[in-house]
Order: sequence, then structure tokens, then C-alpha cells
Amino acid sequence: DLKGPLSVWKYKALLPVAGEPVTLKEGGTPVYNIKNIGKDIGMKDAHVKHEGMNPSGSFKDRGMTVGVSKALELGMKSVACASTGNTSASLAVYGARAGIPVIVLLPQGKVALGKVAQALMHGSKVISIKGNFDDALRLVREMCIEYGIYLLNSINPYRLEGQKTIGFEIVDYFNWEVPDRIILPVGNAGNITAIYKGLNEMKKLGIIDRIPKMTAIQAEGSAPIVKAIKTGAKDIVPEAHPETVATAIRIGDPVNAVKALNAIRTSGGTAETVTDDEILAAQKLLAVKEGIGVEPASAASVAGLIKLRKMGVIASDERVVCVTTGHLLKDPETVIKMCDKPLEVDATKEAIKKVMGW
Ligand code: F0G
Repeated sequence: DLKGPLSVWKYKALLPVAGEPVTLKEGGTPVYNIKNIGKDIGMKDAHVKHEGMNPSGSFKDRGMTVGVSKALELGMKSVACASTGNTSASLAVYGARAGIPVIVLLPQGKVALGKVAQALMHGSKVISIKGNFDDALRLVREMCIEYGIYLLNSINPYRLEGQKTIGFEIVDYFNWEVPDRIILPVGNAGNITAIYKGLNEMKKLGIIDRIPKMTAIQAEGSAPIVKAIKTGAKDIVPEAHPETVATAIRIGDPVNAVKALNAIRTSGGTAETVTDDEILAAQKLLAVKEGIGVEPASAASVAGLIKLRKMGVIASDERVVCVTTGHLLKDPETVIKMCDKPLEVDATKEAIKKVMGW
């Protein structure tokens, strides 16, 4: 009975929510063939699934529509998360929709402006800690246990249930033909775990017959998963001081690491790092050559595609889907720094002509 337009709740039969969900019509995000970038790297079948087109501007909404619905179902009185930004923005939005108090812990000075603005504007209690995301997550976990607050980070299984619909939508979009590869930016490693889980469920139901190669991209300064894949280690070695311009994935000790390593290995995927320069270059390419506006972390997926294609890891005839996880407007400050300033002129036609060289 999987008919109708793509959306998270199209797959209600496979989601653990019994009643009416708390929803803002999330999911159903567009898939674009990135023809111009594809041409440059010799690929015809390279796509982007733009998760920035969700209600709060990131894929986190898929997890929060399910997670916040579950919080209400369980009679929880308040919800909380630690976040590099998007999770807090999304929780603030869905908490407001549900009428439940929200507390968010953010790493001070390392959260993009748009995300802080969302968390504040939608009425959550925003606590900025003098530490990084890994510190914030440790603290919020302890706090939630002590005070009976419902934790909505990706250690919460219901979050991942919602996010698995990215996988459903990708194969559904291609009429249940499985793409060769899905490329994702990886931080706390929840999303890659969730998508892999969803695709495995589809396989068990006999709807698809194979799993795409799950491919994880991390920033060079914040890459515990990539290191574990390259060394063949069973678990990651946490990084004490992760650093990258892609603040969304500035995470040294991802909680879903072991599950993510399994997803990458059993699907025959791979993991690769990209530099901050490569991330920003890919962000600009998407913006200028394709008209697709994404935040830096999201561009890591496309930077990874370009790098792996050049290395010969990705073949020219592969069908690849890069998940661009968040919208350009999430992080305006990084964008402004990268671009030339607007041309400032007097309010006359002559001044405009002069600056245009007409
Ligand atoms: N891309 C963006 C834009 C993100 O915000 C995140 C995670 C990721 C990718 C990585 O996803 O953690 O499931 O591997 N952001 C979290 C947050 C950590 O707090 O918003 P992951």
C-alpha cells in the first residue's frame, strides 16, 4: 500500500507511532540530477537528495516528528538534546508544535547562526556550554536521567526510525531500483545507521534486492569513523579536539560509531575524508553550477563524491545519491566570508552603469 507522494508518513506502517503524529509535513524532499558537476567528473547518474528542504531546513525533522510524537505518547513532560545546531533547531520546532518544553545544550561559539536563531525563536531553553558537542552530549545524558527528561539525540531509537525514511524515499523515487551508492556526511553517525536500517527492512520485506554501498564522508579534522574503516578497527578512537568549518559534523566521539562501521562494511561501502577547502569548494559548486544551496557539512557528501571519483573508487556509470543534509541559510556567516562583498554605490543609474562597466 505504498502509494502517494513521498513523505515520512507515507511509510507509517513501518514507523513505531500508533496515533496521530506531531507533524509539519516533513520528508518528500527533492532529488536532483547534478548534471553540471556530473559532466565535470564524467558521471551521468549523480544525484543530490536535498534534505535542506525539510520544515526546519535539515533532515533532523524526520527524526523529530517520530521522536516528539513518541515523547507525547509516553507522557513525557519535557524533552532535551545536545546539538551542533540542527538537532536543536528541529527539536525546538517540533517541541513548539507539540506544546512541550525543550532544553538544548550547544557548544559555545561553534553553532551556525541560523540554527541558534531557530532554537531561540521557537521558544526552547538554550544553554551554551564552554565545551564541544561531545561534552554537551555527555552532560545532557546525565541530566535527562537525573531529572526524567526525554532525550532526543540519536541514541534515542525513535529518532533513527524517522530518519530511516530517507532510505525509503531514495529507493521509492527510483521506482524501487536500488542506486549503487548513497554518500552521507557523518558526524554522530546516526543518519547513516538509520538509512542502512531502513534499507535492510525494505530488503527483508522483499521490496528491494540489495543494499547500496553506504559511503561516509567526514571532515579531515574530525574523522574517527574514516580512521577506523581505513585501519580495519572494530571501534573508533575518539578524537579529543575535532575541528572543521563544517560545524554540524564537528564530533570526535560519535555515539553510533559501531553501528555505522557495520553499515559501511556489510554494504561494501567506504569512508573518506575531505578537507575544509574541498568542502567549501563543493558548497560553492552546488550553489553556482546547480542552484542548490546547502550548508558546509552537507557539501561534504559532494566533496566526497568528487574525491572518490577522482581516486577511481566510484565508477563513471554508478548511480549515486549524495544526501545534502541541511540548507544554505543555516550558516550564512560562512557563506558571507567566502563571497565577494556586494558592490556599494550611490542610488543613481550612473553609479550602477559605472560599476557594471557599461
Ligand atoms: N549534516 C548536518 C547538516 C548535520 O547537522 C549533521 C548532524 C550531520 C550531517 C551528521 O549526521 O550525526 O547523524 O552522522 N548534526 C547533529 C546536530 C549532530 O546536533 O545537529 P549524523
